[in-house]
Amino acid sequence: MGPSSSKFFSLLLLSIVIVLDTCRADLFTDIITGFEGATDCSSCQSVLLPPLQTLANQGDANFTVTMTEVCEALQLADVEVCSGTFSRTGLILSHGLRGFSPNGTTAVKFCNAVFGLCQQPPVTPFHVSFPKPAPSGTKFISRGRPPFQVLHISDVHIDRFYTVGADGNCSESICCRDPVSNMSVPVAVSDPAGPFGNTNCDSPVSLSRSLLGAMNVIGIDAKFSIFTGDVVERATWSVDRSEVMSDLVDWNEEMTKLLDMPIYPALGNHDSAPVNSFPRKISATNPNITSAQFVFDTQSAGWEGLIGQVAANQVEHDSGSYSVVHPGTNLRIISMNTQYWYIQNYWLYDTDEQIPDPNGLFAFLVYQLQEAEEEGQRAWIIGHIPSGKADFPHDQSNYYDQIIQRYKNTISAQFAGHSHVDEFQIAYSDYNNQTAKTADSVIFVGPALTPQSGNPAFKLYDIDPDTYEVLDAKVFMANITDPTFQTSGPTWELYYSARDSYGPLVSAFTNTTLSPADPLNASFWHVLTEVFASNGTAFQEWNTRKSRGGSVGSCTGSCVTNSVCDMRAARSENNCVSSHFLCVF
Ligand SMILES: *[C@@H]1O[C@H](CO)[C@@H](O)[C@H](O)[C@H]1NC(C)=O
Ligand SMILES: *[C@@H]1O[C@H](CO)[C@@H](O)[C@H](O)[C@H]1NC(C)=O
Ligand SMILES: *[C@@H]1O[C@H](CO)[C@@H](O)[C@H](O)[C@H]1NC(C)=O
Ligand SMILES: *[C@@H]1O[C@H](CO)[C@@H](O)[C@H](O)[C@H]1NC(C)=O
Ligand SMILES: *[C@@H]1O[C@H](CO)[C@@H](O)[C@H](O)[C@H]1NC(C)=O
Ligand SMILES: *[C@@H]1O[C@H](CO)[C@@H](O)[C@H](O)[C@H]1NC(C)=O
Ligand SMILES: *[C@@H]1O[C@H](CO)[C@@H](O)[C@H](O)[C@H]1NC(C)=O
Ligand SMILES: *[C@@H]1O[C@H](CO)[C@@H](O)[C@H](O)[C@H]1NC(C)=O
Ligand SMILES: *[C@@H]1O[C@H](CO)[C@@H](O)[C@H](O)[C@H]1NC(C)=O
Repeated sequence: MGPSSSKFFSLLLLSIVIVLDTCRADLFTDIITGFEGATDCSSCQSVLLPPLQTLANQGDANFTVTMTEVCEALQLADVEVCSGTFSRTGLILSHGLRGFSPNGTTAVKFCNAVFGLCQQPPVTPFHVSFPKPAPSGTKFISRGRPPFQVLHISDVHIDRFYTVGADGNCSESICCRDPVSNMSVPVAVSDPAGPFGNTNCDSPVSLSRSLLGAMNVIGIDAKFSIFTGDVVERATWSVDRSEVMSDLVDWNEEMTKLLDMPIYPALGNHDSAPVNSFPRKISATNPNITSAQFVFDTQSAGWEGLIGQVAANQVEHDSGSYSVVHPGTNLRIISMNTQYWYIQNYWLYDTDEQIPDPNGLFAFLVYQLQEAEEEGQRAWIIGHIPSGKADFPHDQSNYYDQIIQRYKNTISAQFAGHSHVDEFQIAYSDYNNQTAKTADSVIFVGPALTPQSGNPAFKLYDIDPDTYEVLDAKVFMANITDPTFQTSGPTWELYYSARDSYGPLVSAFTNTTLSPADPLNASFWHVLTEVFASNGTAFQEWNTRKSRGGSVGSCTGSCVTNSVCDMRAARSENNCVSSHFLCVF
């Protein structure tokens, strides 16, 4: 992430250094030199972290001011984005930088998460403890009864500053926000934001209302719905606490009122301020730390009508997680706040000590799964971030997988979002021997509503009422390039059924037939990955469907291999896809 032109950069540096006092200028220069010299993991630790730590020791305010200048000097982002980002995230980074040594494991994690300069370090061994050993066998047998439906909505990212007519072509990552209609000097708009959305922007309220109203229009009668997080828009440099609170409150009210069915929500990484900000409880005793308790309080109140008083109390006191048995079923839904297991939650890097279970969320999950096992229930885990992605810490993914393996007979499915695409990840009892027999749990990743990474979409599952396994996963979408999308509003239609599209491929591959009661379980999805690895046509169909045909990237050669690897990696240390981008923004 060094600057692209070092000549230009030197000139710029010179002009900036002149206006700074000598003491700051030396450190400023060291930091700029550090950024220039940090090209890999060891140089991140040796030349970049030391001056940043020196700066952090001068206090949060000085850190924020200087880092904003560094960001502008290196042209890491627009001036507005630099100042907005560091005025929000600066104090988190400086708090962290004061807390770890530059040559330890936390430093490597920091250089991975913040600068993309390190790979994640090897997993720090930790054995999750369980109250009892796993009983053998499973007692959940399908009686072939008609399935019920469950709706899955994710990543709505509603931008309440979306302005129809504003430019969808801008230099920031999220557009459609500038009010241009009353500007004194008319600005040429190259891509005016339409009434129902734009592919460079987050969702207007009209789009989210259209989604929520679609169930009545197309006659979807789901037993309940799950929402896997990310309410808030992604102009992260301008989002503050009051915006997050009002966005959460508005969405809670809208989905409750318009969806008109039971809803089990989960928290996303954008549902706090600053973005991704969920400090550990221990650090939250420090008065300089902005706690995420306001998120838990807001959601506890906003969700109580949906999840009941006991679960609402858990949200407030168990860091945003809760568990509910859906009335009239034998299904326990455990909603986890995955943001304590997110590499971009920079609050996690403030000590050399490796903390296996921030805020006791693994303990909460084990407790809930043990209860489900003893009460003869099946369990679903819903959460925002899929456990196998490159931005899920290898440590916590490994510990999470230990829990999945222990309770695999109780857990009948997992559901997540975050990646914005329609995909899945498989867990295995033996990651070194990935077969249909060792595949034992599957995460269904729901597509996003926000149109930036594909056509706006949601998923609808058919669920076996005896086993609570998934019998079909159907994706519905509204085609944003269809001319009527902006004029008469989005038309939500069935895009494809996983069972109809992939069932025949899996059957052909194994020379067996999928009988109606056979679920789309981990074994099914594993065989499908074998199909994808050997049938290019089938893989390309999947690659198109990921973005609902809306943002299809070319994927051949090693991209296919890596995609298959990603599908087979519900444990992130096994994922071949690593995140390498500047992650602060
Ligand atoms: C932080 O910056 C202020 C001016 O903004 C300066 O007076 C102070 O000395 C700085 N603190 C340190 C520790 O350098
Ligand atoms: C890190 O560096 C400090 C000071 O240079 C040294 O005392 C310590 O042993 C080092 N730790 C590791 C893990 O290398
Ligand atoms: C446009 O008008 C609104 C309402 O009058 C005002 O709040 C806003 O600041 C104006 N925007 C610009 C860019 O002038
Ligand atoms: C977007 O804006 C830039 C500059 O403002 C312009 O050069 C470019 O052609 C525009 N792109 C589109 C697709 O209109
Ligand atoms: C891999 O798993 C299969 C199916 O469970 C088993 O038959 C085989 O022995 C395993 N191979 C190794 C090397 O563990
Ligand atoms: C998936 O379902 C098939 C067919 O019912 C069964 O043979 C297989 O063992 C199941 N796999 C898992 C992981 O439950
Ligand atoms: C399926 O049948 C075909 C043709 O009979 C055979 O070539 C193939 O090996 C079989 N595949 C499996 C997985 O049994
Ligand atoms: C490969 O996939 C395509 C598209 O789904 C399908 O039509 C074809 O039958 C598959 N080929 C084989 C050999 O299974
Ligand atoms: C969306 O609509 C456009 C324009 O009508 C069409 O070209 C495109 O194929 C459609 N996309 C999908 C995925 O149906």
